[in-house]
Amino acid sequence: MWSTGPNIADGDVIIVWLTRDLIQPLTVEAGKDFNSRFGNYKHDDFIGTPYGSKVGARSGRGFIHLLRPTPELWTMALPHRTQILYHADISFITSWLNIKKGSKVIEAGTGSGSFSHSVIRSIGSTGHLWSYEFHEARETKAREEFARHGFSDIVTLTHRNVCKDGFTVADTVDALFLDIPAPWDAIEHAKLALRKDCITRICCFSPCIEQVLRTVTALNEHGFTDITMYETLQRPHDVARIPAPKSIAATTEKLKIAEVKREERRLQQIADNENRRQPKPKSPNKRKRADEEDDEGQEDGGKKAKTHKAEDTAELMLNGGEQTNEGSVSVSRVIPEVRGHTSYLTFATLMPIPPVRGPPAAEATPAETPDGGNAQTASGS
Ligand SMILES: C[S@@+](CC[C@H](N)C(=O)[O-])C[C@H]1O[C@@H](n2cnc3c(N)ncnc32)[C@H](O)[C@@H]1O
Repeated sequence: MWSTGPNIADGDVIIVWLTRDLIQPLTVEAGKDFNSRFGNYKHDDFIGTPYGSKVGARSGRGFIHLLRPTPELWTMALPHRTQILYHADISFITSWLNIKKGSKVIEAGTGSGSFSHSVIRSIGSTGHLWSYEFHEARETKAREEFARHGFSDIVTLTHRNVCKDGFTVADTVDALFLDIPAPWDAIEHAKLALRKDCITRICCFSPCIEQVLRTVTALNEHGFTDITMYETLQRPHDVARIPAPKSIAATTEKLKIAEVKREERRLQQIADNENRRQPKPKSPNKRKRADEEDDEGQEDGGKKAKTHKAEDTAELMLNGGEQTNEGSVSVSRVIPEVRGHTSYLTFATLMPIPPVRGPPAAEATPAETPDGGNAQTASGS
């Protein structure tokens, strides 16, 4: 088991948090060094340090954080041998498969063990995980990791092609998860492995919709019901500090003042136009030009009025968010570039097989054979 003690001990697996994007696992071994671009450290300095500590480099420049492993941190830090599942999907799958303390679960393939570590925590020591991987080197690595993390009793890891050879247990598991390229080829075997005395569930993780279609067909053919596909999309938010905006009261006051000013300008323009229309002793040519000017003026006035209005609104909008001297506030902003989905999750339910009802006890007379025995004995079963 990952350590549950308060302090880091020799031999513990820990998570070294260097930056938000640089997190790595480390097995603490007395006498060893840990070198990074954030300084050089001695494992001896880690031993006895409380989990969660910030440790400074011996040189005095740079620091790191030493954390207790959790499935979430393990997923962020693990050495990738394959594509892995992340927590948006893991938590969704775990909850929809109803994986809980004591659950018996199958997963294939094991891959880098990201999903496995979360399942192990959910099922605890009273549950069991059967994990299958047909890539030998990956299977060996996963076996070493499960042993190092103290999970060997909870996980049975098998090197096997589940599409060809099926699973090693029958009528046993509550939930089954397939993260393989051709899950439809394993559905028949999955049905054999799932319990038949209660409702059980299956989930298949596939990146393409064509794979989903084939999986759905196979699930239907093998009597699964309640087939539903979900897509999980992550929408990360960033926290930022911005200058505190003006209060609503101050903004409303500004709006009122701007309205008054706008009305004053409008009235002024009307008065100007009236003045221009008054007949003046001018030459016809000049009048014409004056008329044209009037029209232009009118047009200009209109344009100007419009421009003023637009400027006012822009100004108000800006001033609405104007800095004040009242410090800053924290806001959450959606990161504009959201990564696409990881995969489609196809869930289905397998209903229990109802027990075969025999006739009531009083009427249960075994079928007689010609020699007076009953059918069961006669057939030798
Ligand atoms: C994407 S990875 C699984 C990642 C894993 N869910 C995780 O979170 O780390 C898929 C794995 O399935 C294995 N695999 C593919 N087809 C298989 C099969 N028919 N039987 C067993 N393993 C299979 C591959 O070797 C690969 O390691």
